[in-house]
Amino acid sequence: MKISIIGAGNVGGLTAMRIAQEDLGNLVVIDIVPGLAKGKAFDLDDSQTLLNRNYSVTGTDDMSAIKDSQIIVITAGLARKPGMAREDLLNYNAQLLKGICEKIKILSANATVIIVTNPLDIMTYYAVKTLGFKTNKVFGMGVSLDGLRFANLISQELNIPPIQILPCVIGSHGETMLPLPRFTLVNHKPLTEVLKREKIDELVKRTVERGKEIVCLLGSGSAYFAPSVAIAQIVKAVVKDEKTILGVSAYLNGEYGIKDICIGVTCVLGKAGIEKIMELDLDPEEKEKFLRSAESIRELTKLLNI
Ligand code: NAI
Ligand code: 2OP
Repeated sequence: MKISIIGAGNVGGLTAMRIAQEDLGNLVVIDIVPGLAKGKAFDLDDSQTLLNRNYSVTGTDDMSAIKDSQIIVITAGLARKPGMAREDLLNYNAQLLKGICEKIKILSANATVIIVTNPLDIMTYYAVKTLGFKTNKVFGMGVSLDGLRFANLISQELNIPPIQILPCVIGSHGETMLPLPRFTLVNHKPLTEVLKREKIDELVKRTVERGKEIVCLLGSGSAYFAPSVAIAQIVKAVVKDEKTILGVSAYLNGEYGIKDICIGVTCVLGKAGIEKIMELDLDPEEKEKFLRSAESIRELTKLLNI
């Protein structure tokens, strides 16, 4: 299995480490900055002995190295600075993604492509359109990270291990994301049966603001530990054909009555990429919020020059 990561910055570098630790395949890491990807590849290569793994890892600034990859993860792009919304990155990162997608089309037309670059849902849509691959093969990581954050905050509130929580977040990977308490399970029980409404509302708000909170604390750049874990989970689901149920930004073609945008929805992930988009039975309030989230994505998507 050949897995390429484009962008060897904070998220890309750690994702390579996670994929290597999980033994998911041979890695190619690319960065536009000369030497950066090669240096990280050497560093990762030196970890093999103690990790007791036998992977190959190549780092380069030459995009032709991605040829015939089965999976490509795109983490190239500008990250948020304090005061910046994910959406502020739109134009800069779209231009950058265009060049990358054009290369992928020529060099790895059969790859499953996972977008990480922000603003996530808009960049995923842009990649879907630019690549022209089947829409089950191009999707974005965003709401599963938000789910990890929601689960962590719930676990702190209840003082139980996060593993006992199965979070559910859909919608944009942005201000209008939709953590869904009714579909979030705590030891198989809906969160709505475990915590009071005011407390849930507080945890939802903190989840929506978690990325921004981290950006402000870091002072430069955005989160990368949890994002890399979330990306590796998706790569593993595809490589091992796990049929994992997970939120990803997917191209909708009529699901929830929505067409022609990418938005976070619950999917079954396996070797074909998105094997199924699951339509949750949303109540009127949840449906209205989800449609509002979709509209906010559509408005931003209109800013793209495609
Ligand atoms: P970073 O600045 O540490 O790394 C980005 C890397 O991309 C840099 O090393 C840069 O040289 C490289 N790059 C830029 N243009 C390139 C090109 N054309 N080809 C190859 N490499 C190129 O940023 P970080 O923290 O790794 O974040 C990367 C992106 O991921 C940002 O857009 C960020 O907002 C996004 N992100 C998304 C998350 C999500 O949940 N979807 C979570 C965390 C970050
Ligand atoms: C995050 O949620 C920046 O999208 C990134 O941390």
